[in-house]
Amino acid sequence: MRNRDVQAAWAYHEGTKHSYWSVRTSTHVLDWANRPLPFKIYPASKPILLPRDVPQTGVAALAAISARVPAVSGDAVPDLQDLARILFFSAGITRQRKYPGGEIYFRAAACTGALYEIELYVVNGELKGLDAGVYHFNPADVSLRLLRKGDFRGNLSQAAAMEPAVARAPATIICTGTYWRNAWKYGARTYRHFGWDNGTLLANMLAVATASGLPAEVVLGFVDAEVNGLLDLDARREVALCMVPIGSTPESSGPGAREAGALGLETIPLSKREVEYPAMLEMHEASSLASEEEVAKWRGTRPVFPSSALDGEEVRLQPVPEEEQPKDTIEQVILRRGSTRTFDPAASITLAQLSTILDRATRGLPADFLGHGEQLNDIYLIAHSVEGLAPGAYFFQRERKTLELLKSGGFRAEAGRLGLEQQLPADACVDVFFLADLNRILEGYGNRGYRAVQLEAGAIGGKMYLAAYAQRLGASGLTFFDDEVIEFFSPHAKDKSAIFLLAIGKPLGRKAP
Ligand SMILES: Cc1cc2nc3c(=O)[nH]c(=O)nc-3n(C[C@H](O)[C@H](O)[C@H](O)COP(=O)(O)O)c2cc1C
Repeated sequence: MRNRDVQAAWAYHEGTKHSYWSVRTSTHVLDWANRPLPFKIYPASKPILLPRDVPQTGVAALAAISARVPAVSGDAVPDLQDLARILFFSAGITRQRKYPGGEIYFRAAACTGALYEIELYVVNGELKGLDAGVYHFNPADVSLRLLRKGDFRGNLSQAAAMEPAVARAPATIICTGTYWRNAWKYGARTYRHFGWDNGTLLANMLAVATASGLPAEVVLGFVDAEVNGLLDLDARREVALCMVPIGSTPESSGPGAREAGALGLETIPLSKREVEYPAMLEMHEASSLASEEEVAKWRGTRPVFPSSALDGEEVRLQPVPEEEQPKDTIEQVILRRGSTRTFDPAASITLAQLSTILDRATRGLPADFLGHGEQLNDIYLIAHSVEGLAPGAYFFQRERKTLELLKSGGFRAEAGRLGLEQQLPADACVDVFFLADLNRILEGYGNRGYRAVQLEAGAIGGKMYLAAYAQRLGASGLTFFDDEVIEFFSPHAKDKSAIFLLAIGKPLGRKAP
């Protein structure tokens, strides 16, 4: 039960903090000649091209990101078109741009360094348009590659200790993280990025599945080795991070687990040589669940999260009235999303726009590690220019739907500093910081709580991206100086840890996207 020895998560977290000095003394340089391939390629298997002219859902983005999982009375079975829509709008290529060394293929969800280390796989029974099998999704040619023929859903159900959503799903998407593809730039901090980048992708995936009328949720409890084995992963390089069962049948009538031996499928090497970061392998191993019993027990334990006492003046959220909210569809918004590269420091957003983002993005993630409405991350803000909200630092009282003033004043310079001395957080209208009580989380979930809290932050951050772009604002994820963030928000944030940062504002120099 290594998962219970939470020193491993603390060692990883402490060892991968950014500080003024760690950034200045880092000797890491980018070896452009050894830049990893952005795609996983199986040279020997034939592509099954996915349909590209898939009908759009027509569901407004703001509704799709905040909707509860649709309640289905009968079957909700995805067909190939549904799968194509969900995969493309989660991980598909939406833009491309040339740079001196080649081309960057930007994807549907934001990702640190545009390195796209999250891969998607599908494990499904017989579907309209797709035979039962285990498949890998390749965004480069929008195709699936068959890895195993036949129905292996029973293996997933077993690995997830008969989690009901997995047991009833006609198809389950598995998200994996490929260490080297992101570690080439970010070194050992990549394990945090796994959660962030998988999370932004999940925000899209859940929204598009929901808009397609299909239940979907995040499952984090599973026997790691069984899922990695089913996908034929070399677990020193690539590991399963979470599963998303898509659709539902009334009975868990799926097949039993079957033999799934190693395939040893050939894949094209990502780089001439790869560097391994033992801290990440250790973090992953220590947060792995080894048996179905451990998975079931893990899922059955929940930390209790007390509400934060109210101590300061409050400003009530005032979301844009529902009938006046933009109706752009989830597909339109995903296609126009792209991280803002320069914010207009003279621009402002309204309290109504900010309230809409906070309200829509924090209605709870459907996940096996969260009870209804629970959230692991606490949200703190630095408001620079929000009409109707005095500049200052705030705590989001989620249950009360208010912003509690922690300290007033202009903090643009401080925000720039906290966001790794970048201009983006200084020029944004508001910076949203995700902080968490890691002590309590690790106590409750073991080391796997570290995966959960990073993943949840990425998913809420991803929803905030979409809620901002739905309102024609801009946004960008950012990295940060860990301890300085906590100092800035203390004493309120005392004993918490910095998890994630998103800047929101208006893009400079061109019309809002
Ligand atoms: C969690 C996260 C952290 C990020 N951190 C930074 C950052 O520190 N500085 C920056 O300029 N961009 C940052 N980005 C933006 C990425 O560079 C951007 O998402 C990536 O280049 C892909 O482009 P796109 O978002 O426009 O599709 C971050 C994105 C995410 C999701």
